[in-house]
Amino acid sequence: MTTPLLEARDLTKSFDSVRALGGVSLRIPEGEVTALVGDNGAGKSTLVRCLTGVQSPDTGQILFRGEPVRLRSPEDARKMGIETVYQDLALIDDLTVWQNLFLNRELVYPLGIVNRRGMIARSGEIMRELDVDVPSVRTTVRRMSGGQRQSIAIARAVAWGKAMVIMDEPTAALGVRETAAVEKLVRGLRERGVTVLIISHDLAQVMRICDNVVVLRRGRSVAAHSISEVDGDRLVGLITGAIPGNLETPPTADTGIESAATVPGDEHPDEPDSAGDDAAGSGKTDATPGTDDPAPDFSEPAADIAADTAEATPGTAGEETNADGTAANSRASASSGGSGATS
Ligand SMILES: Nc1ncnc2c1ncn2[C@@H]1O[C@H](COP(=O)(O)OP(=O)(O)OP(=O)(O)O)[C@@H](O)[C@H]1O
Ligand SMILES: [Mg+2]
Repeated sequence: MTTPLLEARDLTKSFDSVRALGGVSLRIPEGEVTALVGDNGAGKSTLVRCLTGVQSPDTGQILFRGEPVRLRSPEDARKMGIETVYQDLALIDDLTVWQNLFLNRELVYPLGIVNRRGMIARSGEIMRELDVDVPSVRTTVRRMSGGQRQSIAIARAVAWGKAMVIMDEPTAALGVRETAAVEKLVRGLRERGVTVLIISHDLAQVMRICDNVVVLRRGRSVAAHSISEVDGDRLVGLITGAIPGNLETPPTADTGIESAATVPGDEHPDEPDSAGDDAAGSGKTDATPGTDDPAPDFSEPAADIAADTAEATPGTAGEETNADGTAANSRASASSGGSGATS
């Protein structure tokens, strides 16, 4: 397996009693577009902030080109060629397009005189290269549409992100045409060999523009696939927990959804109590149709079954005990290994 450009191993991060990351491992292959998907609050933005030095993980390891790195600030990530488009864009409204593009990176002549003309010219080139449609690079960002602002934030990341660009929901607020323009930008990045990590709730978009997908659920990486291995429905199942992920420990050896789905003679697919929850249904073995199994309690949602079983901590099943950062961390490190994403 080739060395990924960026890799995370078993990252954890808690905010007081909230466990935002409870063991996240992922591999981001070089030159490809990887999607990071998961429900609201799954930990996607926290993960991005840990990967870009904005926040430090409590435990775990980050590797860049196979070497462990310690990111103490966003500047450390930038030095490695990693640029980020944050969910809030971080543009300064009262500055022009070119000023935003060169924010904190002003071109200066040897004597320290600001090269304003050079920056304006280069900004125009960047916008043309990326086919970004703005009236003028001398216009203030405040007067731009949502799509234009998004494109400028991406252009800034692209202009400086030599190795990798991370985008946190770049098209969440955009219309159809603007979304298409951003998707074109992402494809252009891949053509130029730039590695991309993109957070998106738009699963059709993920299927359109990404090569790989990693699923986070409740602060854990639960699945990693190349895009050809999944479809939109499967991604929804992985995100909600209706389908156990390939990085999760299955509830038991023979209660996975695949086996249940292929059991001959399964003639009660629409039991009223399990309607709408295939994985929970699959948890009930066919040996006891219509009965309440006394042993494992599979009546709870599949998401909880998978998560609780993966944690494999006796006495905690069915409880939201993740608030204890210390315990969560020790569990996460205990269950490390084998949780790396496939590529
Ligand atoms: N600075 C913080 N202080 C306290 N809790 C936080 C902080 N940042 C994130 N969290 C919590 O961590 C969890 C993960 O949040 P995060 O923003 O990473 O989710 P997300 O997957 O990006 O969600 P969304 O799709 O809504 O953007 C949430 O429960 C959130 O409330
Ligand atoms: Mg977020």
